[in-house]
This record gives sequence, structure tokens and C-alpha cells, in this order.
Amino acid sequence: MKILITGSNGLLGQKLVEYLESVPEITCIATSRGKRRFQTTASNVVYESMDILQFSHVKRIIEKHQPEVLINTAAMTQADLCEKNKELCYLVNVEAVKKIVEYCGSRDIHFIQLSTDFVFDGKAGPYNENNTPNPVNFYGESKYLAEQIVMNTFCSSTVIRTILVYGITPNMNRSNIVLWVKNKLEKGEQIQVVNDQVRNPTLVEDLVSGCILISIKKKNGIYHIGGKDTLTPYQFACETADFFGLDGSLITPVDARIFTEVAKRPLITGLIIEKAEKELGYQPHSIQAGLALVGQQLKNIQLQ
Ligand SMILES: NC(=O)c1ccc[n+]([C@@H]2O[C@H](COP(=O)([O-])OP(=O)(O)OC[C@H]3O[C@@H](n4cnc5c(N)ncnc54)[C@H](OP(=O)(O)O)[C@@H]3O)[C@@H](O)[C@H]2O)c1
Repeated sequence: MKILITGSNGLLGQKLVEYLESVPEITCIATSRGKRRFQTTASNVVYESMDILQFSHVKRIIEKHQPEVLINTAAMTQADLCEKNKELCYLVNVEAVKKIVEYCGSRDIHFIQLSTDFVFDGKAGPYNENNTPNPVNFYGESKYLAEQIVMNTFCSSTVIRTILVYGITPNMNRSNIVLWVKNKLEKGEQIQVVNDQVRNPTLVEDLVSGCILISIKKKNGIYHIGGKDTLTPYQFACETADFFGLDGSLITPVDARIFTEVAKRPLITGLIIEKAEKELGYQPHSIQAGLALVGQQLKNIQLQ
């Protein structure tokens, strides 16, 4: 089996490649903009530089490798940047997806699109796959538009919605809540963390397992892949402090409205994962087990 991954320099992309390195029966075509930012010596991993905005190039790479499955992790992922640059966000998160999924349809390639809890308005979470999206910012809107395109294109395809992903790789291009909290508290800095939003944070390894289960089973439709435990970002920050033996009194709980972020955030989301548990055998880690894995990986990275 061959799986092509877009955005392989990102957090999920790097972790998918890392996992596939240990599965010799699967050839992994890792693609991302520019040079690869991860190490690999595995013979079943091939790297191609590929910008999903350059469609003729995308077609050439797909033709060259003929994958059975394409996992589209590439995206403009920062909500505030999407709000400030809607045109670019639309091109990457919607237009590029449309072209690639249509092409996959014509080549019998199973297409997997990564989406987000931000498609919901956060008024009545947690949500299941049948709830109706109503995004409150442009990032969420772009991802919802892409979902609709994927679902309405004649192509074997899956939309995976995920939520507040955390984890670590040696070459990260952006931080996430666990690493940010740890870093700030280690420096003895005070931090304010939102206590009126609700999420079930996803360990990136669990998201990888969801993507792989879907790639193998080639399930069509929408699947929610989130964490096992539901909590506020403030509670998650306190769990992180406790786990790493840091001073939790430096964390102040606040309401989201005190932040003047460019993009509005949905308040109470959370993704119900029952469908993935029943149909895929998806079994995410608890927050405690997830933090333990990140802690172990941090130690390994520091030793390198
Ligand atoms: N992280 C979360 O909390 C979260 C939550 C819900 C949904 N998701 C979704 O999950 C997916 C993976 O997220 P992630 O956390 O891995 O995000 P990430 O770390 O930001 O990775 C996204 C990758 O996409 C690449 N990319 C952007 N534009 C591209 C283009 N034109 N051509 C090729 N690559 C391009 C970026 O490249 P550069 O590194 O060169 O910028 C980056 O490496 C995304 O679709 C995201 O919307 C993430």
C-alpha cells in the first residue's frame, strides 16, 4: 500500500511519517513545501517537495507515485492569520482541496481531509458527526467549505475532524498548549489561560492512529477523532503543570472575552468520538497517559 501525505513538515504530518517508518508494508510519500524538516533513513519513506497551491506539480507527483490513499494534512492552520489573510486561506484550505479531491476521484485514490471542531459555533458542544456546523471565524468557514466539497465530490473520501492537538516533534514550526505552558512555567512566568472554553484535547499519536485506521479501512464519511477527556484549557494547563512538577499557582483562569484575538473562537465544542470507537476501534489515551508520552519524548529529544 502507498500513502501520500501533504503537509508532512507539520505536527501531524511529521508524526504520520514517523509512524509509517515502522510499517515496511506501507510506502509513505511524504510531501511538503520546500525542504523536509524531519529526519528519516527508512527505505519505505520518499520525500517530495510539493506546494498544494501548484496543482500541475501536485498532479505530477501523484502520477509518479500512484498512491492508494492521500491524507491532506496541509492547511493554513492559524485562525488569526486566516482571518487577516482570507484570500490565501481560501486558496490553501478550499481551492487546493477542491482540485486535489477531484483529481483523486478520477484516479481512484481514497482522499482523507483533516478538519476541525472550529466548524461548530461552540454554543452547544460536544458535537457528533450529524450536528450542523456554523463556523464563527474564517478558518472554520474555510474548513467547512472544504468538508462540503469533499463530501460532494465523486471520490472515495473521509473527513476527519480533530480538536486542540498536542504533542512534540524535534522540528516544530509552531507550539501547542502543553509545550507553551511548560515553557512559560519553567521560566517562572505568570500566564492567563481560558477557563470558559471546553475541548477534548487530542494527543497527536491518537490522531495518527485515527488516520491510519481510516486509511486501511477506507471508510467514507465524517469521523470525529479527539481525546478521551473533556476539560477547559485552564484545567489542561493545570494538569500539565502538575505532571511536569511546575508551579500551577502561576496560572490564572480567565474568560475568553478578555483576549482581543482577531478571530473569534467557539466556546464549548468537544467532539464526541463514539462513532470512531465503534466503527474503527479507535482508543485514545487519557490526558495523563498523553502527558506521560510527551514527557518521555521530550526526554528523548533532549538526549539527542
Ligand atoms: N493542531 C490543531 O490543534 C488542529 C485542530 C483541528 C484541526 N487541525 C487540522 O489538522 C491538520 C494538521 O494540523 P497540524 O497541527 O499538523 O498543523 P501544522 O503543524 O500547522 O501543519 C500544517 C502544515 O501544512 C503546511 N502547508 C501550509 N500551506 C501549504 C501549501 N500551500 N503546500 C504544502 N504544505 C502547506 C505547512 O507548511 P509550513 O510548515 O511550511 O508552514 C505545515 O507544515 C490541519 O488540516 C489542521 O487544520 C489541527
